[in-house]
Amino acid sequence: MSNETDDVKITLENGVQCLRFNRADKKNAITGAMYEALSAALDRGEKDDAISVHVFLGSGGSFSAGNDLKDFMAHATSGQKGMPVPALEFVRRLPRVSKPMIAAVDGLAVGIGTTLLLHCDLVYASPATTLRTPFLDLALVPEAGSSFLAQRMGYQRAFELLCLGASFDAARAEQAGLINRIMSADKVEPAALAAAQALAAKPPAALRAARDLMRGVDADAVKDKIEEEVKVFAACLESAEAQEAFKAFFEKRRPDFTRLKGSN
Ligand code: COA
Repeated sequence: MSNETDDVKITLENGVQCLRFNRADKKNAITGAMYEALSAALDRGEKDDAISVHVFLGSGGSFSAGNDLKDFMAHATSGQKGMPVPALEFVRRLPRVSKPMIAAVDGLAVGIGTTLLLHCDLVYASPATTLRTPFLDLALVPEAGSSFLAQRMGYQRAFELLCLGASFDAARAEQAGLINRIMSADKVEPAALAAAQALAAKPPAALRAARDLMRGVDADAVKDKIEEEVKVFAACLESAEAQEAFKAFFEKRRPDFTRLKGSN
């Protein structure tokens, strides 16, 4: 798997692997190449004892605008079936990562930018943070196990986030238990890195055992739910509704689903 892209910056220091979204001009929307780089980095963590913790970071005042919609459009119009492979491989890895994952969020976290957080062990955020999953507006369905994981905050709140597509600001996200703490933007990354260092200094076998105890039962349910979601998501991706939603985004207009009646 290729992991060459400047759009994700990966560094390793004192046991902490940082994975920084580095495509600020596109609000850190995640391309296939970026998913491949992220997956390769997570895989390295499984094999390399020098990596104890992963930290996801944004840049330019955004965490991530989610999946690159040009990639989604290109995939759907290419006649390929299923979900785009790099995105699929990334979401499949998330419940399998055996080392802690921490996120430092400042600004927008959309789509997978939000659902990735549901897999993290710790999330620190600035007051400018907004979580949003506009899956339904794109004629898609929740992904990355979120249709299961988000329900930890209660069905109605999960439905509001995942199906209504409501924006959760930092305070709402903290209240819902999606983030640990809100702090000023300049303190978010230092806090995430300090927590990562603290975890990296713990006895690794005990840390892994403790994490497995806490995540074990859900991990299987999440893996199963991801496979269920993938089938539905892939079918939605091919739909005329989704194509209209993607086109409308790039044409900077509201989608018009009314003229598609009967075409799906
Ligand atoms: N895929 C591809 N390109 C994206 C993108 C995405 N998910 N999100 C943003 N971009 C691009 C825009 O097309 C724009 O490119 P341009 O400068 O070449 O026109 C650039 O990033 C900046 O985005 P813009 O929309 O101008 O910024 P904004 O501050 O007004 O809005 C967002 C930011 C994130 C709210 C808005 O871009 C958005 O809604 N993006 C789509 C999010 C989404 O639906 N993600 C998928 C979820 S499954």
